[in-house]
Amino acid sequence: MSLSPAEQALVQAARESRVHAYAPYSGYAVGAAVLTDDGRVFAGCNVENTSYGLTICAERVAVFNAVASGARRLVAAAVCTPDGGTPCGACRQVLLEFANTPESFALWVVSPDRLIARYTLAELLPHGFRCFP
Ligand code: THU
Repeated sequence: MSLSPAEQALVQAARESRVHAYAPYSGYAVGAAVLTDDGRVFAGCNVENTSYGLTICAERVAVFNAVASGARRLVAAAVCTPDGGTPCGACRQVLLEFANTPESFALWVVSPDRLIARYTLAELLPHGFRCFP
């Protein structure tokens, strides 16, 4: 598996953000990063809460960080988990909302020291919800 320079920056940002994870309840620290169509990288980590259901995943923090900075089109993401865990279903759907196209959207799964897998969003979320009002 080979990474472009932009994808290397993406993976590095996900790994760096994982260091900031607030996960005192699960002990499962996650970092994520998204790449915009104009080459910017936005990162996020999971933030847990004592009211467990209020916890937010790293991937959604990264996406919302990008959107709050004006980005709308995302072309790739990286997620760094301790064990190669892949994004949850809710985060896949949120990524779909802003993915350029699900077939071209690359999602790298990495651990702190290994590249684990590369998927497309279309592979991870077949038949995702789309609403065309
Ligand atoms: N988590 C993520 O950050 N991303 C995912 O896609 C799955 C789960 C977090 C939520 C929680 O803080 C911890 O991992 C354990 O579920």
